[in-house]
Amino acid sequence: MPFISTSRKQAFRHRLARWYKRQGRHDLPWRGAFAPYQVLVSEFMLQQTTVATVIPYFHRFLRSFPTVEKLARSPLEKVLERWAGLGYYARARNLHRTAKILVRDYGSRLPLTRDQAESLPGVGPYTAGALLSFAHNLPEALVDGNVIRVLARVFGVKEDPRQPAVRRHLWALAQSLVPPNGGRYYNSALMDFGATACTTGLPDCPACPLSSLCWARRNDWVQRLPVPKPDSPKTVVRLSALVVTQDGRILLRRRPLGGLWGGLWELPTLEGPVVRGQPVVVAGGEIVPVGQRGAARHVLSHRDLRVDLWEGRLVRPIHKSKWVRLSAVRSKAVSALTAKLIDQSTAL
Ligand code: ADE
Repeated sequence: MPFISTSRKQAFRHRLARWYKRQGRHDLPWRGAFAPYQVLVSEFMLQQTTVATVIPYFHRFLRSFPTVEKLARSPLEKVLERWAGLGYYARARNLHRTAKILVRDYGSRLPLTRDQAESLPGVGPYTAGALLSFAHNLPEALVDGNVIRVLARVFGVKEDPRQPAVRRHLWALAQSLVPPNGGRYYNSALMDFGATACTTGLPDCPACPLSSLCWARRNDWVQRLPVPKPDSPKTVVRLSALVVTQDGRILLRRRPLGGLWGGLWELPTLEGPVVRGQPVVVAGGEIVPVGQRGAARHVLSHRDLRVDLWEGRLVRPIHKSKWVRLSAVRSKAVSALTAKLIDQSTAL
């Protein structure tokens, strides 16, 4: 790993701060006052999701749950409803559990140490750094894909950041760069710079105020850093989803709480194909597929879901299900895939 002088680190901080003043995203709703509860909600939402997608959900969520106490007191079902469409629902369940813990154990405040922050459900090293630096302006580092790209390029980290030793080095480097008098603006700047200037595609290096400091720029390695991940093939999963309707209502079933889309409502679904006229068992009940009505594809991080959509006739009731008026489906906690399938089936 390269040695980096103190003056080089200072130059990095200084230029990044100047860049942030002029080009940072100062109008992000959770940055207005860096209010701890807003920081908390936004950081959970921003895990694996872009700023543009999060903003409308963030406003809606805060209208429904304006304080950490209100969130802690609300039923999980309602929290999932407000999260519906954002994906990665474990985040909503963890946020809800975290809110309860904050109210019970921390006087409704965010903790002040990394250990305490990382003990909260859904809070890893990155989110802990974000919570502590944004909410309390503590000098705590954060490292995610954007930060890795910036540091790898500027400081010439040529090893694979997925290796634990390299990752430790990147965290140490990130921590050594945080200004000791507070990480709030520095981390905001680093994040924005990675997301909007030092991008994966073709960054505008000639316009970059850090380019004269940048190892990758000097060595013509910008496109090669950080070392890319080898492509991992996704597992193809074939599913059959059944639309059963009755008097303008549609049959939905609640998914078990653990695992993918836990606690959300979906069309009764089974793995593999179904055959017209041959009854299938779903969640303890029985449905006869009467005809195929469509198909959809939904790509997740590790799985490529191919879903056939069938009209079905219920012959034996299924567990944890309910009839939902078609006009009310949108306000239920459903995944984006379920919404897509229901849109197809109601367009028939
Ligand atoms: N990604 C994760 N946290 C973020 C934040 N606070 N602002 C912008 N992007 C982010």
